[in-house]
Amino acid sequence: MSETSIWSAPPVSLSLLAGEVHVWRLGLEQSAAEFLALLDIEEVARANRFHFDKDRNHFVVARGFLRLLLGRYLQAEPKQLKFSYGEWGKPSLAGEFRDSRLRFNMSHSHGVALYAVTEGREIGVDVEHERADFAGDDIARRFFSPFEVGVLCELPDEDRVAGFFRCWTRKEAYIKATGRGLSQPLDGFDVTLGATENVMLLRTDDGSPERWQLVDVAVGAGYAGALAVEKPVSEIRYWDANDRD
Ligand SMILES: CC(C)(COP(=O)(O)OP(=O)(O)OC[C@H]1O[C@@H](n2cnc3c(N)ncnc32)[C@H](O)[C@@H]1OP(=O)(O)O)[C@@H](O)C(=O)NCCC(=O)NCCS
Repeated sequence: MSETSIWSAPPVSLSLLAGEVHVWRLGLEQSAAEFLALLDIEEVARANRFHFDKDRNHFVVARGFLRLLLGRYLQAEPKQLKFSYGEWGKPSLAGEFRDSRLRFNMSHSHGVALYAVTEGREIGVDVEHERADFAGDDIARRFFSPFEVGVLCELPDEDRVAGFFRCWTRKEAYIKATGRGLSQPLDGFDVTLGATENVMLLRTDDGSPERWQLVDVAVGAGYAGALAVEKPVSEIRYWDANDRD
């Protein structure tokens, strides 16, 4: 994974200031043993349902690290944390931390996980491994709005695959921030597609696109990433969990 300048080694002591968003990147190709010990019984059962070892290990590392991370912010034992799930599956804190203002979301693709953490506002994050064979017009017409398909078709050929994944991750980050996932009609809102223009929601089905800040996350070569978070945001900080210097 090539390095980009946005990522820093995480600080020893974490503080999440009002309006801040912390984005964490983690490589999932590592031993799952220490993470497995952090999971609860339902998570272990879910891990065991994966057919391939690789998928199981990635799930265990990603979920175990989520617990470690939230434990650091909450100063709590990772294994003691409890989650509940929204109507469409979005996890949030439950049990003794159900009234916490901490909000989080995570995404994983092809051995990389992204986590986004903030306070008192909804948040969604997405990472996708860029695959040219997936970025065809048929898939775009199926998942993107007519506006987005139109913009995609106008992009130069050499920017089509990257444009497709910019669109995909921006849309996915938004439907994960609202928590509605794929129950949210994907043609009911529009995102911008350009690499350099303002990254934003142009239209939402509740008529308030200005409520959300949409940001690309430079995950690394071969990956696209995006974050959607309720405004106002004061600062976004990017921590590389594998950078332990
Ligand atoms: C489930 C969904 C929220 C994300 O799925 P995904 O892209 O396959 O997976 P990601 O790795 O980005 O996210 C999965 C994580 O999001 C979280 N999550 C699950 N449901 C969620 C929801 N409704 N809202 C927000 N976050 C959710 C969980 O932490 C989950 O992690 P886990 O699987 O380890 O429990 C949903 O949007 C989906 O099924 N998408 C399929 C892809 C698609 O068609 N996208 C269209 C984009 S244009």
